Amino acid sequence: MKNIRNFCIIAHIDHGKSTLADRLLEFTKTVEGKDLQAQVLDSMDLERERGITIKSHAIQMDYVYEGEKYILNLIDTPGHVDFSYEVSRSIAACEGALLIVDAAQGIQAQTISNVYMAIEHDLEIIPVINKIDLDSAMPDEVEDQIVELLGTPREDIIRASGKTGIGIEEILKAIINRVPAPVGDSEAPLQALIFDSVFNSFRGIIAYFKIVNGVIRKGDSVKFINTGKEYDADEVGILRLGMEPRDEVRCGDVGYIISGIKTSKEVKVGDTITHVKRPAAKAIEGFEEVKPMVFAGVYPIDSEDFEDLRSSLEKLQLNDASLTFQPESSVALGFGFRCGFLGLLHMEIVQERLEREFNMDVITTVPNVSYNVYDKKGNKKEVHNPGGLPDVTLIDRIEEPYIRASVITFTEYIGPIMTLCLGKRGELIKQNYISGNRIEIIYDMPLGEIVIDFYDKLKSISKGYASFDYHMHDYRPSKLVKMDILLNGEPVDALSTLTHFDNAQTFGRRMCEKLKELIPRQQFDIAIQAAIGAKIIARETVKAVRKDVTAKCYGGDISRKRKLLEKQKEGKKRMKKVGNVEVPQKAFLAVLKLD
Ligand code: GTP
Repeated sequence: MKNIRNFCIIAHIDHGKSTLADRLLEFTKTVEGKDLQAQVLDSMDLERERGITIKSHAIQMDYVYEGEKYILNLIDTPGHVDFSYEVSRSIAACEGALLIVDAAQGIQAQTISNVYMAIEHDLEIIPVINKIDLDSAMPDEVEDQIVELLGTPREDIIRASGKTGIGIEEILKAIINRVPAPVGDSEAPLQALIFDSVFNSFRGIIAYFKIVNGVIRKGDSVKFINTGKEYDADEVGILRLGMEPRDEVRCGDVGYIISGIKTSKEVKVGDTITHVKRPAAKAIEGFEEVKPMVFAGVYPIDSEDFEDLRSSLEKLQLNDASLTFQPESSVALGFGFRCGFLGLLHMEIVQERLEREFNMDVITTVPNVSYNVYDKKGNKKEVHNPGGLPDVTLIDRIEEPYIRASVITFTEYIGPIMTLCLGKRGELIKQNYISGNRIEIIYDMPLGEIVIDFYDKLKSISKGYASFDYHMHDYRPSKLVKMDILLNGEPVDALSTLTHFDNAQTFGRRMCEKLKELIPRQQFDIAIQAAIGAKIIARETVKAVRKDVTAKCYGGDISRKRKLLEKQKEGKKRMKKVGNVEVPQKAFLAVLKLD
């Protein structure tokens, strides 16, 4: 055990985590240069395209240092706020962390919150200034930032480049010399922390763990403490480029278990594996059930695809336990599902996978968060969609989730960012000067305001120089109302939103204006109205037009005419007929595009 080192890499998106990990694998000859598929750790196509490590994995390297052989387990962590619970479990499985900071970009919000998480778990942090080969690199400034954040002595900060290979050997030495070996008792009852799991269509669920105490052997009867389920360890082993079966995995080491589990729901990240005989007295601390925080309706464009959509969602759920869905129906959109996601990015990923991997054409409705609604008797109900809000006369109070958000930016953008946060009902908690002209601002904000066009606005007003991170903070009472949109007097349920009373008027007006832009003129006037209960708070009209697509053809070429008509039909497919009004798909997301 004294020669094992378990470490993870903390980095902001694009600061070079995957590239650097590749260099470590190459240097330790875990993979040969010629076999090195760019960025081994990002195995999903989608991940590579987005440049975001979505699912954590682990890989073991051997390294001989001063005549001794060391086992280095690199545990990968996802780099996005939506997956911060997974990050926390990966961190809990390690004794050390490489903190990678881009020499041109400096410390970002995401980096800081993950560093705090690592400090909380007592990890030894090795700061690495990466990409020092770049012309725009400012290693000295970044070094100041790191010293200020962590108080690390300057000589302990490594300068590296994943591109050229500078600093790689120094990083490996630092891991061996500075990261403590795992502690634990091989004789004690088994306690293995599950930090990740993946679905494999042949083997079922593969759970990744770190052994905190004890030893796990092939064939053992094991129990997952939090779910209470028992299994046989059909196969255990370690993780190299692929899985390598072993007869046993010992205390301090990282490995995998295959035990005939069929769905991801049975394996929960953060759970503890122990033996059925001689079980550990308790589970490893820190287990949480991850709960979806963002909800949206997902509807097939063609209502005949409903069952296909269901089976696609079921397949997605096999390897993504954090995705939830329940059938729901909408007068406007027909039958579909109310899906729950960890956050907005997770929602985008699911939508994209449905389209790409399952060929589904779907309409996603405006996302909302989960509200706690209390009735007058004190009963609590979680409401996930505007339609689920009980009659106002029955409601005692509504509470909405608040996040604590951190934005890091340059001082020159503070004004507009503060205005933005204020407009999102944010409450300034504090400001921290990081170094030079960089500042961190901390806000408490309703999550419901973030799921609607916050990131895009933040990016545009800061010209991209603001990073954002958040975590769930608490629930607070809120004056929420349901705002309906009516088209020619008919409420369109899929366009209803839950909004704060104080903002409803402005919000309703902007919604109507936006819908007017998005709904094409048709052969009659279309009245667009926003209403709270029976009260109309805004109105716009789309004027009638007689649209004759063949007019341009001068009556001539018949085949050209047909083509145009077909094209128009194609265009119609992306429309949903609501009452007598054709509504384009993008109108259902109008609220996300308000200026
Ligand atoms: P996520 O997986 O999205 O978190 O990104 P990452 O942190 O893994 O970054 P990745 O390794 O994908 O690198 C991001 C970009 O920076 C890529 O275009 C790399 O080619 C580039 N890059 C990484 N390391 C270096 C470096 O040392 N020098 C230079 N010049 N570019 C680098």
